[in-house]
Amino acid sequence: MSNEPLVLGIETSCDETGVGIVRGHTLLADAVATSVDQHVRFGGVVPEVASRAHLEAMVPTVQRALDDAGVALSDVDAIAVTAGPGLAGALLVGVAAAKAYALAAGKPLYGVNHLSAHIAVDTLENGPIPAPALGLLVSGGHSSLLLVEDLAGRVEPLGSTIDDAAGEAYDKVARLLGMPFPGGPPIDRAAREGDPGAIAFPRGLTAHRDMEKHRYDFSFSGLKTAVARWIEAKKRAGEAVAVNDVAASFQEAVCDVLTRKAVAAAKDHGIDTLLLGGGVAANSRLRSMAVERCEKAGIRVRVPRPGLCTDNGAMVAALGSHLVAANVEPSDLGIPTDSALPVELVSIVRREVAAR
Ligand code: KG4
Ligand code: ZN
Repeated sequence: MSNEPLVLGIETSCDETGVGIVRGHTLLADAVATSVDQHVRFGGVVPEVASRAHLEAMVPTVQRALDDAGVALSDVDAIAVTAGPGLAGALLVGVAAAKAYALAAGKPLYGVNHLSAHIAVDTLENGPIPAPALGLLVSGGHSSLLLVEDLAGRVEPLGSTIDDAAGEAYDKVARLLGMPFPGGPPIDRAAREGDPGAIAFPRGLTAHRDMEKHRYDFSFSGLKTAVARWIEAKKRAGEAVAVNDVAASFQEAVCDVLTRKAVAAAKDHGIDTLLLGGGVAANSRLRSMAVERCEKAGIRVRVPRPGLCTDNGAMVAALGSHLVAANVEPSDLGIPTDSALPVELVSIVRREVAAR
């Protein structure tokens, strides 16, 4: 038997009830139940609907993960759970469940940061993360460049979006194009049939002046508005909207800015490893452009397979396993959730630490 930690991870920060089990860096189970179908008609995640779905899916999903991994709850060394950031009610369901499992089975609890977990999941496929590394975290709620000195506690934000997150921009533009929620996958598919150079959409915060003040920050709301205006103008003129070209040109603008700023940050800090994480890291163009541009700059790109980029429990278990191995203090059973948990806090250890 390996003496690497066996960790069960629970993720409920948004609309996916994820339960993953890892031993060290080895993925043993990745069970996900999603409530996305219940949100489609609203065009976005409805927090109360998501919370209720987590409640219903929790016990069966934990059981499925244990069965898939062929282990019992009594075998695990620790239970990790997303304590923030995310939807308050959704987080509460996961954290309450994790506390109950930890108390019932007499296991240590780790209330961890969802954003660090998106980075940590990469260890399941590519092994330990070299220090320092640069993290480009792009999801429905976040777009950040992170200086990762040590996943167990030293993660420093270099910049982030000043308005919409990259995934949010995908979701909003998909809606404008009449595509379903979440918008990333259908835009990704449509873009493959379109011309990325068809429309010159704006690249937010890349002008010379912006690069001085917002070198590592992003802005996608102007891009979204530009797409909306372009579609409106076409409709007003009675012309057809070339959906595939709009999708490809929009996607090119997003990926151009993300990779350009990531390469600049890596070069500025003398970092030779870029980690991509979060739902938008599943995007085929972002992956290929990052590899292309980083290769030219002598930077290695690490990116998990698409299924591990979107929210899942394996990422939480992966971070939990890293914290156990690094001898980080477990969380008190009284820890709260924190829907705005800052990225610098990799885990919440005590109620007092969380109070800011
Ligand atoms: O990480 P995630 O599953 O949840 C959050 O923590 O937000 O990310 C969800 C986001 C959604 O906005 C979705 O549209 C986007 O990731 N996404 C994609 C792709 N797959 C998911 N965006 C672009 N291309 C994709 N293939
Ligand atoms: Zn996420």
